[in-house]
Amino acid sequence: MQQAHVTLDPAFRIAPVHRRTFGAFVEHLGRCVYTGIHEPGHATADEDGFRRDVLELTRELGVTTVRYPGGNFVSGYRWEDGIGPVGNRPRRLDLAWHSTEPNHVGLDEFMRWARRAGVEPMMAVNLGTRGIQEALDLLEYCNLESGTHWSDLRRANGAKEPHAIRMWCLGNEMDGPWQIGHKTAREYGRLAAETGRAMRMLDRDLELVACGSSGSSMPTFGAWEATVLEETYDVVDYVSCHAYYEEHDGDLASFLASAVDMDHFVESVVATADSVRARLGAKKRINVSFDEWNVWYMSRFQNAEPPADWPVAPPLLEDHYHLADAVTLGGLLISLLRHSDRVTAASLAQLVNVIAPIMTEPGGRAWRQTTFHPFALTAAHARGEVLRVEPVSPVHETARYGEVPLLDAVATRDAETGETVLFAVNRSTSEPLELTVDSRGLGAVAPTAAVTLSGPDVYARNTADDPDRVVPRPLTGLTADGGTLRAVLPAVSWNMIRLSGA
Ligand code: AHR
Repeated sequence: MQQAHVTLDPAFRIAPVHRRTFGAFVEHLGRCVYTGIHEPGHATADEDGFRRDVLELTRELGVTTVRYPGGNFVSGYRWEDGIGPVGNRPRRLDLAWHSTEPNHVGLDEFMRWARRAGVEPMMAVNLGTRGIQEALDLLEYCNLESGTHWSDLRRANGAKEPHAIRMWCLGNEMDGPWQIGHKTAREYGRLAAETGRAMRMLDRDLELVACGSSGSSMPTFGAWEATVLEETYDVVDYVSCHAYYEEHDGDLASFLASAVDMDHFVESVVATADSVRARLGAKKRINVSFDEWNVWYMSRFQNAEPPADWPVAPPLLEDHYHLADAVTLGGLLISLLRHSDRVTAASLAQLVNVIAPIMTEPGGRAWRQTTFHPFALTAAHARGEVLRVEPVSPVHETARYGEVPLLDAVATRDAETGETVLFAVNRSTSEPLELTVDSRGLGAVAPTAAVTLSGPDVYARNTADDPDRVVPRPLTGLTADGGTLRAVLPAVSWNMIRLSGA
């Protein structure tokens, strides 16, 4: 059996675990909002029509922030359509997803949902068809106490307290030619800078995100970030990254190594941001908001026929995830944690039905996809500080990324409880991997729980009828001897080993 080795030492600190790493995303897209989070008449619906079963799963998932209302949707959205009496709200065409938006859910409803879900909202403004004024109106509606047109309207609409939204995305994927109002980096950078500057005049206490690239394979990747940050450096706090991964043509080995691309993506953006910093002689650092990431079989969506008419909440982007998808997603979370020194916010895209960890039937059941599990367990147990683990691992060849280590791993350590948690992926498509953990640096510790997400069929999925086919199971055969732990990680597996504190 091939062997790999990691070292756990509290001195190898990277950065704190940021709670915002465990964000998600609710877009007016497909069935994410309608029949996803919201379905009046559903057996579990609350007084506002929110599905309690989905709220419970959202809390169980451990989501901390939720980005809203898009995505591509936001670039054609008039936020005012979604406020006031529901019966008076206009129906609009949503060009991004070729759907009809009934506006039954808007800002105030979303904020009520967010409170019930216990999540922080992250709001996106439309810089596709709109600009500075509409962003200011929205901010005034959300964050001003009272005494002005928009703040008083919010109060009249039933929200007496300001929504107090801190995190704001200045547009969405403005580098993408598919985006309504797509711009060059210079055009977007100027608009984002002026919008952000004006927003800060209204409310100084904001955290602003400039759009970075929609993927590391965009032709403008790198140059886009450099130009946008030249324009916005003093105004924004974050630059965004978006990345989606899928298994291409049965190439499982490359797919399982998707975190290699995420590592490269983050490190390139950080290097670009720091070079702009040096050129401008700036003091502050720009962090990364990885505010769209996931496994998404985008090629299936791109090859599918677009809807013929303009349906309301059609089933779109409803990927049914299998075990290998979940293992890959667990690896992507390892990459995000590993970069916690600069990735201080992230959003799994999306939350319900649309490339999501939670699925629902209209009028029926809700269940956890395979990808729910590594996310929920990492969100629940990654606490305190992120530790580098210095993996020593055999490698294998992949078509997309060349030679990659079989083992990917990171650890966290909570100084308060003394618990250390190791997250590890075996990327081998066929062989188990023997893992040796040197835990001497932690003192006397003992494993308290170890789980694995693995199984004989890497393409097994959860369904409404069989919702627990793929769930984490105990990782057996773990031995601890002095300062050395040994475990065998199954092929194609995501694993979590918890060690009690000294
Ligand atoms: O998450 C689905 C879509 O992916 C979003 O609307 C867009 O921002 C990205 O291209």
